[in-house]
Amino acid sequence: MSDNIQTVKVLSKTTWTPNLFSFTVSRPDSFKFTAGQFVRLGVNPSKLQYYQQNNKQTVEQAPNEDIFRAYSIVSSPFDEVLEFFSIVITDGAFTSQLQHLQVGDELLLNTMPFGFLTLARYQKPMPKDLWLLATGTGLAPFLSMLQDLQTWEDYEHIVLAYSARSFDELAYVDRIKQLQEDFGTLVDNPAQLIFIPIVTREPIAGALTERLPKLLLEGTLQAEAGIALDIDSTHVMLCGNPEMVDDTKEALKELGLIMNRRGEGNIAVENYW
Ligand SMILES: Cc1cc2nc3c(=O)[nH]c(=O)nc-3n(C[C@H](O)[C@H](O)[C@H](O)COP(=O)(O)OP(=O)(O)OC[C@H]3O[C@@H](n4cnc5c(N)ncnc54)[C@H](O)[C@@H]3O)c2cc1C
Ligand SMILES: NC(=O)c1ccc[n+]([C@@H]2O[C@H](COP(=O)([O-])OP(=O)(O)OC[C@H]3O[C@@H](n4cnc5c(N)ncnc54)[C@H](OP(=O)(O)O)[C@@H]3O)[C@@H](O)[C@H]2O)c1
Repeated sequence: MSDNIQTVKVLSKTTWTPNLFSFTVSRPDSFKFTAGQFVRLGVNPSKLQYYQQNNKQTVEQAPNEDIFRAYSIVSSPFDEVLEFFSIVITDGAFTSQLQHLQVGDELLLNTMPFGFLTLARYQKPMPKDLWLLATGTGLAPFLSMLQDLQTWEDYEHIVLAYSARSFDELAYVDRIKQLQEDFGTLVDNPAQLIFIPIVTREPIAGALTERLPKLLLEGTLQAEAGIALDIDSTHVMLCGNPEMVDDTKEALKELGLIMNRRGEGNIAVENYW
């Protein structure tokens, strides 16, 4: 096993829908990361099945067939545990196994953090507005950033727009609504968090219903936030479905924003597949 791979224990599990769940694992003492980064998590299907069938006795006889996948960290860099938010893909090699996780099971964690969807990528001074646009589990890195006090100090407004197919798939809504109270009170002049839920496949009161690019091009998202998007005042981060990332990037470019490179520019992105 590589030096970077450690075994971590599952401490809790929250099921949101049959296709979505979150879980926390123990955090190795030496493991450090920046809000927005991802790690590689590993399962050994035989071991997981062995745990389930044998009352979590010993895994000595399980053959070695580890499968690793990238996972954004939901929890803050200052938390004692690591939290993750996962899809279940019916035929997916990783999540068809991971969905059976139970408290007490073990997972593999590659403790090398990856990724540049972090606020550190932007050159200071920060502009006044941060837009965080997510589909599905692409919410994860933004939850980590929103649990980092620096984010609340660096901006005047943080707009979080989070798109899911149905209302029940909008996970973490209560936690998002609590963030302003929990983190916004810990710094002087905290940012104002503006949360915009989007539900695309059923009409829901209080949620927008169109896809992100359309909402941006029509100005609906900006009107809902009460803030303009412009090249001087805005950082925008996109995370989740690659088609959303591409289409939204194009919409933002049409609105005059530019990709962030070497610290300069507005738009930063992360694709999940
Ligand atoms: C940088 C990065 C960070 C990631 N972070 C997360 C995360 O925090 N949570 C998470 O659930 N997944 C995340 N993923 C996706 C994850 O790595 C796996 O793809 C996912 O766990 C499915 O694995 P699988 O083997 O079951 O299916 P795969 O064979 O990996 O995927 C099969 C298909 O399922 C769909 N798919 C895969 N992942 C997702 C997803 N998250 N949401 C919707 N559809 C998906 C795609 O159509 C994909 O082609 C991330 C991926 C990357 C590259
Ligand atoms: N969610 C389910 O009920 C369900 C059921 C069975 C299987 N799955 C599988 O699970 C995987 C992911 O499902 P998911 O619902 O988490 O992710 P998803 O398909 O990425 O949908 C999440 C959100 O992203 C939006 N979106 C998709 N493409 C977009 C684009 N180009 N521009 C802007 N917004 C876009 C969706 O809007 P739209 O609604 O307009 O697409 C939805 O609001 C898929 O591979 C799917 O086959 C999901």
